Amino acid sequence: PDLPSLASTVVDWQKQHGRHHLPWQGTQDPYRIWLSEIMLQQTQVATVIGYYERFLVRFPDIGSLAQARQEDVMPYWAGLGYYARARNLHRCAQELAANWDCHFPPTPEQIAMLPGIGRSTAAAIAAFAYGTRSPIMDGNVKRVFTRYFGIYGVTSQRAIENLLWATAQGAVEAAPVELDMAAYTQGLMDLGSQCCVRGRPDCARCPLKARCYAYEHGVQQELPTPKPR
Ligand code: ADE
Repeated sequence: PDLPSLASTVVDWQKQHGRHHLPWQGTQDPYRIWLSEIMLQQTQVATVIGYYERFLVRFPDIGSLAQARQEDVMPYWAGLGYYARARNLHRCAQELAANWDCHFPPTPEQIAMLPGIGRSTAAAIAAFAYGTRSPIMDGNVKRVFTRYFGIYGVTSQRAIENLLWATAQGAVEAAPVELDMAAYTQGLMDLGSQCCVRGRPDCARCPLKARCYAYEHGVQQELPTPKPR
């Protein structure tokens, strides 16, 4: 594995082979990016697209969502499941209206303090909206990093989780200053969902295979280490 080349390789691949026409791409509006990331947390892209577009027609900005009653928001979530996401979304809009003049805060640390927004989602919002050099670490990215760096151990354990975050931070720090953080962040998500999938990854198409620990040692099936059960 090679830390300095990782990010640039991911960006080049994203620009050539990643996804570019998802409805939440091509905007730097943190509200739209936030909504997409919350919907995508537990729901597949194909399902999210229709919900995302209908939601934005009814609630085009933070102010309109903050002013709505929760009962008026829930129908736009009906069928997506995990309804706490919608309740937190509404609470978050109200907090942004009350404390931030209907804007998102400027740093991932501040964004992560809002209801329903964890560290990785906050970093994704800041990377897409502001280009902040802050790493994400979701399920897809855990697969890419454990395989590329040969990180064994259950990824939900604190020590492994910390190692993954530190490695992801190191990858961003080692990247060139002009790194396109939106393309990098989207590229990690795209690699994890298009090449570095669970089960049998499509290593033939992966831009990282030349330096990937799992590919070199033929241990793609063993990483990430499965949870004991
Ligand atoms: N899953 C989480 N965030 C995503 C994004 N921005 N694009 C596609 N899938 C995602």
